[in-house]
Amino acid sequence: MSYINLQTAVPGPKSDAIVARRTAAVSAGNGKLTPIAVSKASGALVTDVDGNTFIDFAGGIGTLAAGHCPPEIVSALQAQAADLVHMCSIVSSYEQMIDVAEMLNAITPGDHAKKTTLSNSGAEAVEAAVKIARAYTGKQGVVVFEGAYHGRTNMTMAMTSKYALFKKGFGPFAPEVYRLPYPNIYRRPDGMDEEQFVAYACWQLENALISQVDPSAIAAIVIEPVQGEGGFLPTPAPFLQKIRDLCDKHGIVMIADEIQCGFGRTGKLFACEHYDIVPDLITTGKSLGGGMPIAAVTGKAEIMDGPHPGGLGGTYSGNPLACVAALASMKLINTPEFLSRAMEVGMKMRGEMEALQREYPHLIGDVRGLGSMLAMELVKDPATKEPNMDATGALTAATLQRGLITIRAGLYSNCLRLLPPLNIADDVLDEGLAVLRASVADIA
Ligand SMILES: Cc1ncc(COP(=O)(O)O)c(C=O)c1O
Repeated sequence: MSYINLQTAVPGPKSDAIVARRTAAVSAGNGKLTPIAVSKASGALVTDVDGNTFIDFAGGIGTLAAGHCPPEIVSALQAQAADLVHMCSIVSSYEQMIDVAEMLNAITPGDHAKKTTLSNSGAEAVEAAVKIARAYTGKQGVVVFEGAYHGRTNMTMAMTSKYALFKKGFGPFAPEVYRLPYPNIYRRPDGMDEEQFVAYACWQLENALISQVDPSAIAAIVIEPVQGEGGFLPTPAPFLQKIRDLCDKHGIVMIADEIQCGFGRTGKLFACEHYDIVPDLITTGKSLGGGMPIAAVTGKAEIMDGPHPGGLGGTYSGNPLACVAALASMKLINTPEFLSRAMEVGMKMRGEMEALQREYPHLIGDVRGLGSMLAMELVKDPATKEPNMDATGALTAATLQRGLITIRAGLYSNCLRLLPPLNIADDVLDEGLAVLRASVADIA
């Protein structure tokens, strides 16, 4: 049985018409990775307005760990909508928001007392985490890394690395942000082995506290334990440990941005758990809400209480609908069965991607990731590792033509990242991977 069912050319005429209206009505600044317009979705399957059914390996850019429209989230939303759509948590309290905070406090790494603040988007959560760290420490500096993606608000743009796509024309950016090299193992200098390279990156980090900014001026070091937009790069363990040690030594707040890598994507609830490292604050979003706009900062109660009352939050922060979705999503994801399935899905995808790399070594320079957070990096020549952005665009276009939605990532836009639901059934996953294989053959 085939899950993909293409009835028209892709895009079909109805998609074309809607996309034409989008072009006329919506700012060109809102990027668009595929030319299809969708009408409904369930699990790993998406149906477009022309009646074509696709397998979705883009997963709302990492938002749909539990797939599209999980019945538990849909019914929670329907029931909540009948009772209370909005109140504003600045005006009064309601239980759903407290439930989410309590659950995040319980399930995030660390057995210290914790508190949470909710927001509407990942960028807002990262920005709130910086405000909290500054208020608590009385310091201003924020250390971030090359390849990092933290969002599109002014503060988070300053913290985001990739300039041309996310920052061009939008400055001036927020001050007191210090960007340091990130140990991207694949792109280490020739002649350096992995261990030497990571040790050098740790030295650079420590040295930056002399050459760039004094620890007494640093409020926070912010790191994605697995870089998302940067190309699914797991942070080498000694580097993450170095950050933890420096934060402990100098009274700096360690912030783990798990907005993309959290909630099961790496096979554990949080990527930090692979490293046995407990950050002071953790930002979550995306799959936290199963598709509803909600994000959070959770961390040490003492730090979280740093800001003055009224300094955090906003009109929609902790909206009741978003909260019931988050509760249902967390209950779905935080089970041993769900997480072990995420690991199995990752192993299967990795096996197939590594097989493709062996067959097409001139094109696929690297296959990497953690759990099921996996990407392959396309190059023009595996020796020079020159990024092949055109091939990556051709590959995502080829998979779509065959009925599989995929998206790119990476500082050089030359990685294909796979973000299927983590509870995807084997036969759907197999069909998606077969399409990936055929599409690589199309463009190789
Ligand atoms: C690691 C990370 N941080 C922050 C963000 C920003 O989240 P949002 O798009 O919800 O503002 C993203 C989004 O891709 C992300 O991957």
